[in-house]
Amino acid sequence: MTRPVLVAPSMLAADFANLASELQRLEAAGADWIHLDVMDGHFVPNLTFGPPVIAAMRPHSRLPFDVHLMIAPPEPYLASFRQAGADWITVHAEACPHLHRTVQGIKELGAKAGVSLNPSTPEDALRYVLDDLDQVLVMSVNPGFGGQRFIPQMLEKIRRLRAWISERGLTCRIAVDGGITAETAALVREAGADVLVAGSAVFGQPDMTRAIASLRGNTLP
Ligand code: DX5
Ligand code: ZN
Repeated sequence: MTRPVLVAPSMLAADFANLASELQRLEAAGADWIHLDVMDGHFVPNLTFGPPVIAAMRPHSRLPFDVHLMIAPPEPYLASFRQAGADWITVHAEACPHLHRTVQGIKELGAKAGVSLNPSTPEDALRYVLDDLDQVLVMSVNPGFGGQRFIPQMLEKIRRLRAWISERGLTCRIAVDGGITAETAALVREAGADVLVAGSAVFGQPDMTRAIASLRGNTLP
């Protein structure tokens, strides 16, 4: 069974010198959400941008901002990201020793709360917080860089999470991030994903509308 999915292009692969026009291009091409990768050079070996850059982007898109925090610790910055315009805030389980408290903190700010798992982290890490989550973000590459290869063992993690969510009757979404192409998107949709995050597969294509459609499994005439 395949399900309808949302496509969340990652701005990591955008032209950083033209963020406003890149956001407009994504909206015109049919993107559902804007995925924003925040890296701190500590939790992951790369640096990107923080709240001021997100605040500068905010007026240039009507789409929800899905902010993926690859920072440790994230707690001191949650309010700033919310204020900058984050609609969804996702933290890493590995970066939060008091994950339950962190999730409640995100919700108290009025944002949707997500938790991400590195490839080597089992879904069991979410057993006691899953009921409180709006999104689980399954990393299908080791976070830090775009353009890496999809790790196929993550399909089992997606299937297990899908089974848990169905058994418990939850509305929590499963997003998958890293190495998503038209080919891996089909596998990930079939495993039970709701949201596909893609950087190179959207920005690296000459026709962005077609690229987004093909991630959904649609072929345009
Ligand atoms: C990786 C980021 C991803 C990345 C995906 O740490 O979380 O969102 O931009 O890039 P692609 O789609 O190129 O693997
Ligand atoms: Zn991401």
